[in-house]
Amino acid sequence: MLAVQQLSHSFLNGTEPTQVLAGIDFRVERGEMVALLGSSGSGKSTLLNLMAGLMKPTEGSIRIDGHQIERMSENALAVFRRTHIGFIFQSYELIPHLTVRENVELPLVFQGVKAKARRARAGELLDRVGLSGKTEMFPSQLSGGQQQRVSIARSLVTEPAVVFADEPTGNLDTKTEAEIIDLLIELNETLGITFVIVTHEHEVARRTKRIIQLRDGKLVEPDPAAEPETRRGEGGSP
Ligand SMILES: Nc1ncnc2c1ncn2[C@@H]1O[C@H](COP(=O)(O)OP(=O)(O)O)[C@@H](O)[C@H]1O
Ligand SMILES: [Mg+2]
Repeated sequence: MLAVQQLSHSFLNGTEPTQVLAGIDFRVERGEMVALLGSSGSGKSTLLNLMAGLMKPTEGSIRIDGHQIERMSENALAVFRRTHIGFIFQSYELIPHLTVRENVELPLVFQGVKAKARRARAGELLDRVGLSGKTEMFPSQLSGGQQQRVSIARSLVTEPAVVFADEPTGNLDTKTEAEIIDLLIELNETLGITFVIVTHEHEVARRTKRIIQLRDGKLVEPDPAAEPETRRGEGGSP
């Protein structure tokens, strides 16, 4: 589903390129929930932004659902992101002048989905995340945990192949953090949503079934499943 191969990335600071990621290899299968763990500055956000197609890697490849995303044009990538990728941010990134329901509907507006269908889908997901009574409120009227629930519903509304979350509980207290992780686990187990969750907290990472650990831009343990495509083949699933 998601395959990262020999991924390296350098930023050009002044004249000297600084290598931030080096030779990253791993795979995430459909329906997995994976934590990407590493201390601050280890390259987690860079890796996530590369996987989400927000920037191009210096070297290596990223395949999502059979699409080699580093080879796509900016226009194709913009469409691909809207249809295949969900994103959850540490700071929620909700639109303040839209209601909770309108925030969740927004990705469907960009896809040209009709109002009635959008409303039904947003309502369904807001129900799922425990906000059925808050759909007509504005983000500022909700707690941080509730705002993150809205953003989780929004990330799922287009039925993406994978949802990337960058420190999704970074702004929350310990109790709310646990509740949000509970929700992500439930969505993974009941709906089969594929999650890659970036965190610097061991307590968060420990709750997922699998941890990929980054240290100074390298994986701590290579993923044994990350063999070259030529040896694995493409598999039989559609
Ligand atoms: N746009 C950028 N330009 C230059 N250096 C960057 C840029 N973004 C991140 N870095 C550097 O890359 C390293 C990894 O950053 P980042 O991926 O944000 O790590 P993390 O999310 O694990 O804290 C840091 O040393 C950071 O300063
Ligand atoms: Mg980061």
